[in-house]
Amino acid sequence: SSAEKDGHDWFMRKEIFEQPRAVADSLLGRRDASGRLQLDEMRLADEELRDIDKIIIIACGTSFYAGMVAKYAIEHWTRTPVEVELASEFRYRDPIIDATTLIVAISQSGETADTLQAIRHARSQRAKVLAICNTNGSSIPRESDAVIYTHAGPEIGVASTKGFLTQLVACYLLALYIAQVKGTRFGDEIDEIMEHLEAMPGHIETVLSGADAVYSLAADHASSRSVLFLGRHAGYPVALEGALKLKELAYLHAEGFAAGELKHGPIALVEDGLPVLCVVPPKGRDQLHGKMLSGIQEVRARGARTICLAEEGDTSIEPYADELIRLPKVPVLLQPLVAIVPLQLFACELATVLGHDVDQPRNLAKSVTVE
Ligand code: G6P
Repeated sequence: SSAEKDGHDWFMRKEIFEQPRAVADSLLGRRDASGRLQLDEMRLADEELRDIDKIIIIACGTSFYAGMVAKYAIEHWTRTPVEVELASEFRYRDPIIDATTLIVAISQSGETADTLQAIRHARSQRAKVLAICNTNGSSIPRESDAVIYTHAGPEIGVASTKGFLTQLVACYLLALYIAQVKGTRFGDEIDEIMEHLEAMPGHIETVLSGADAVYSLAADHASSRSVLFLGRHAGYPVALEGALKLKELAYLHAEGFAAGELKHGPIALVEDGLPVLCVVPPKGRDQLHGKMLSGIQEVRARGARTICLAEEGDTSIEPYADELIRLPKVPVLLQPLVAIVPLQLFACELATVLGHDVDQPRNLAKSVTVE
């Protein structure tokens, strides 16, 4: 009923709007009185964490994209090498793992068979397994050495939304915790990054207050046959997740690309009127922003209709954006937390306009318990 959905038409839409609260809950109680990070359910001793020389993240679907973002954060803040692998591929390639490898298994449901089998394989090779999970007592955390629960509350919509955002939070917390334990030079910045994270619920609220503009964009594009998504750095997994949402819900052909890879092939797909959603990185000291801008110019010169997600105050994007969605100003590594929200709203609305069942998309299941 609509009451269970807080007046929303879909559980998914309700869950999108719950994200500020979910992210806040995920951050709750993670610091002690002196401000140091503490992860209660962590169960891995500092000694054990200090010995870790490689991290492999395994997951499926949306959780895999959270893992891709995690790689950028963990490597940058902790200088520990990270691989991200689809759970269904992991054990079949005879991965190189031992007692100094930390496996991070990300799963909203905690019951995904591919992920469960992958961690069983990892443990048989003596690797330590840490689960990032939203479901208390589910199989994956039960079979792991340690767990960080995401505290998003139950997620009903088949397409993951608040599950994803809180997985990102857990990944950032894990990265910062490892930095704290290992004492890397980014250790000094933990407070600053935590303050940025603690401001996120407010920023997500700001993005949600612009939902109507995103809905009308989605309605404008309801007759599209194909949609592309571009991103760079932490915006690249956002592009992939934005595309996945459109496939899952609107049954549209949608692809996400790393913007720098365009010229190596995907640009051949661009034709007149093709909608291209572009996740523009914040302006920083690096060249990312400028390079993204030239990618956007390239597709636009070939007739694409560009829908750009760019931070507040970034005027340099205006000449190249047919449509502009503003994002709050946040550090590049944390930008996925705000950038994915308009893409969730876009997919949810487009599927609604097309008359699809957003909560129960065809052929999909909330948790897939077969390999
Ligand atoms: C299914 C769902 C996806 C989800 C994936 C991984 O395919 O339809 O939305 O991302 O499983 O689920 P998990 O519970 O392991 O995060």
